Amino acid sequence: MKIFDPGAYAALARRTVAEGCVLLRNDGPVLPFAQGAKVAVFGRSQFNYYKSGTGSGGLVNTGHVPSITEGLEASGAVKVDAKLKAEYESWIVDHPFDEGQGWANEPWYQEEMPLSEETVLAAAGRSDAAVVILGRTAGEDKDSSNLEGSYLLAGAERDMLKAVCGNFEKVAVVLNTGGILDMKWVEEYKPGAVLYVWQGGQEGGLAVADVLTGKAAPGGRLSDTIAKDIGDYPAAENFGSESRNLYPEDIYVGYRYFETFAPEKVLYPFGFGLTYTTFDVKHTSISVTAAQAGMEAEVTNTGSRPGRQVVQVYCEAPQGKLGKPARALCAFGKTRELAPGETETLSFTVPFARLASYDDSGATGRKSAWVLEAGEYTFYIGTDVRSAKKVGSVTLEETVVEQLEEACAPVTAFDRLRPGTSEGGVYTKEYEPTPLRTVNPMDRRNERLIKADPCAGDKGYKLSDVAEGKVTMDEFLAQLTDADLCCIVRGEGMCSPKVTPGTAGAFGGVTKRLLDFGIPTGCCADGPSGIRMDCGTHAFAMPNGTLMACTFDPELVGELYEYEGLELRKNKVDTLLGPGINIHRHPLNGRNFEYFSEDPLLTGEMAAAQLLALHKYGVTGTIKHFACNSQEFHRHDVEAVISERALREIYLKAFEIAVKEGGARSIMTSYNPINGFWSASSYDLLTTILHGQWGYKGMVMTDWWAKSNDQGQEGERTNTAAMVRAQNDLYMVVPDSESNALHDNSAEGLSKGTVDRAEFIRSAANICNFLLQSPAMLRMRGIESELDKALSEAPSLDDGDSAEMFYVQTGEDNALDFDASLIGMSKGDNTRFGVSIKEQGLYKLILTLRSTDQNDVSQLPLSVFQDRNLLGTATLTGAQRDWETVEFNVMGFSGNFYLRFFAAQTGLELKGVRLEIVKTMAELQKEFGQ
Ligand code: BGC
Repeated sequence: MKIFDPGAYAALARRTVAEGCVLLRNDGPVLPFAQGAKVAVFGRSQFNYYKSGTGSGGLVNTGHVPSITEGLEASGAVKVDAKLKAEYESWIVDHPFDEGQGWANEPWYQEEMPLSEETVLAAAGRSDAAVVILGRTAGEDKDSSNLEGSYLLAGAERDMLKAVCGNFEKVAVVLNTGGILDMKWVEEYKPGAVLYVWQGGQEGGLAVADVLTGKAAPGGRLSDTIAKDIGDYPAAENFGSESRNLYPEDIYVGYRYFETFAPEKVLYPFGFGLTYTTFDVKHTSISVTAAQAGMEAEVTNTGSRPGRQVVQVYCEAPQGKLGKPARALCAFGKTRELAPGETETLSFTVPFARLASYDDSGATGRKSAWVLEAGEYTFYIGTDVRSAKKVGSVTLEETVVEQLEEACAPVTAFDRLRPGTSEGGVYTKEYEPTPLRTVNPMDRRNERLIKADPCAGDKGYKLSDVAEGKVTMDEFLAQLTDADLCCIVRGEGMCSPKVTPGTAGAFGGVTKRLLDFGIPTGCCADGPSGIRMDCGTHAFAMPNGTLMACTFDPELVGELYEYEGLELRKNKVDTLLGPGINIHRHPLNGRNFEYFSEDPLLTGEMAAAQLLALHKYGVTGTIKHFACNSQEFHRHDVEAVISERALREIYLKAFEIAVKEGGARSIMTSYNPINGFWSASSYDLLTTILHGQWGYKGMVMTDWWAKSNDQGQEGERTNTAAMVRAQNDLYMVVPDSESNALHDNSAEGLSKGTVDRAEFIRSAANICNFLLQSPAMLRMRGIESELDKALSEAPSLDDGDSAEMFYVQTGEDNALDFDASLIGMSKGDNTRFGVSIKEQGLYKLILTLRSTDQNDVSQLPLSVFQDRNLLGTATLTGAQRDWETVEFNVMGFSGNFYLRFFAAQTGLELKGVRLEIVKTMAELQKEFGQ
């Protein structure tokens, strides 16, 4: 168990970033720079380090985030060329960072300073080496694009590389990006070193400097294949539609595709990465038991610097009735830091069940089963998928690992890829019809439905009585009326005042009646890169998901997430909305930065490590987005049309690992439909597979304002009846649960019989079971554990704010119209007024505001604080384009106080802010009889 120590937290994050940096090339070697080297730093991103991508997954408020240049300067190990830096600084005065206007509108890259020949030559004359930093962002609602300045380098960036590589002997290109970029330029300009540093959170800039100066070694290996061209990726033809993406590449995602069909298209293989030393990897023979294979790799540091090596085990399963990829990752490990000459032996165990294929066609004679087809299973060990060497093979009899039942199969006919004939290990591409659905999930649901008894009335049981074993969950929930049940499936947010200020949602005890039954209010916050608190509270900004996957070190990631767990607990957040574990199907998915990899095993192991770490402190994570949220464009509606096999082996696999190995207890469904059902209303996904086949016992929430549908119908945000029927327990989010502000059809569904009371009780039980295990239960019962006590005394990360400050006074009428134009309304703006009032009493603050954002579902919060207390958050959606007024009560019980306005997003316009008295102190005293 750890204690909350911000210094240790930062140090561990810094180490994790170095462990995730992937060195693709290091001729010379250029890196690390020699002690005292003079270094010229190029690229404007040296001043605006991207700590994460954009959208909910990156909105962590932190203090100052040091840039890479600051890191280099602070290192004392190298001398940063001051003249070049000054030239950039003066150019930036007229070319400030462009945040874009509103949600999802931050540009992918920032305009680059054009470089004159003279500037580059002069810098080269003064320096020993150059660093060129290229920055990129993308994120929620904003995919990357195969355009210059996004996936491709911008013209000015190419000019910069050409000039710098042409004039410096030693050049290191540093890529501060969420995911992979086009890399054709490496061969064109031939920089000596190329280093992916991803987006490393608040400590990222410092950690990158550690790597460049050799204080730390780059420990990362690619969690995705880098192909020669974007068009080479197997999903290239089927990415980016508005309405429907077919998945004809089937299970052949990432290296599974390239190694089977197109090895020549790979520039940098999956698992590849250099470090500052060299290693020899020797493998031993395979030891076999009935259920698993064991292997060992002896790793020796043969170079002259310390370092860690990642060893990967791949399996080639026999081509049988079912096609197989030429390689599939089945185990991996990382050495400790080895000194030159030192050796470590890594051991691997591969359960044969992990090598099974899912037969969705019946070709093996065992439809809907995980099957190990008879034949030779060959194992390869190495330091990337391409160079991994054959260790040996195991011949297995045909074995049915697990017989399941068909679920989530497609209804739209399409052909899918499978290997044809092989020449030299490379297969021709063949296509076969994808097996279609034969069982209607709605019939299955109707057959299995158990009716509930009517409401038993209030018997005085509290949720704690269930915890203490005095009553069963069913007896407890029988007390809830249908109206209570309709309320409990509604989560409230954003920024519900019932939970930690500025967080994404409250759930469970959201009405007085539910609270009176002893059901606490749970709190969830975005995620995944740290705690998002839109009221401006500071939190720790974590490295992004891709970076963490590239560490290939679930143990280290778990250790880091122990601090996250403590921080969540300290902030009274029960579940983080993360990790995001969608598969990197295509490099242009804007949220790849939040997700881990193209490989399901690596993704699942990372997620499990994070969850197990959070669980040590009683909190958890909400794995998301279940499933196939493979692109951001039209993410609410774009349907994934996909085989059941590809779902099971690739897109659901990481969730299955997180459930079975990580003990996941909260899941967020995706916005998109899968094979005819919006995820939140997919009975097969949530009931047949998740709860039934995987034995999941936790709760399921929708993504924010997600749609649900009845079979054959369009998705609707109001169709909570379909949602509950599928066993998606919570609709996230409504402003007020009790008033059914979003007019959902829960009550109507109950009265018409399209959903049963038993189904509501089932969801209420899932939510209550979650709450019983969460710190919310302790909070409600007023129990302060030793851990909570220690955390309340531990230092906080919220080191106050640096708000702009104005001073104002009320007039003779005890009212005050603020100059709204003084209030910063761009993302992150904090404006504070020192207010003096003439008359003490109860005031109200009236804000008149509207959205200027183009996107209807943008979340636009403006939080208002009196002194350090949150008065409330006015959250408009992008669709609220007409002027609205929002009021907050202000207690004017002392003559002076502060009012602070914090804009968490750009995209709101503020027309008026008025403070006016409601009741004087004298009137209040009279009213309360004093
Ligand atoms: C995102 C989720 C996020 C939620 C709450 C949604 O738009 O897709 O990942 O957790 O908003 O902010």
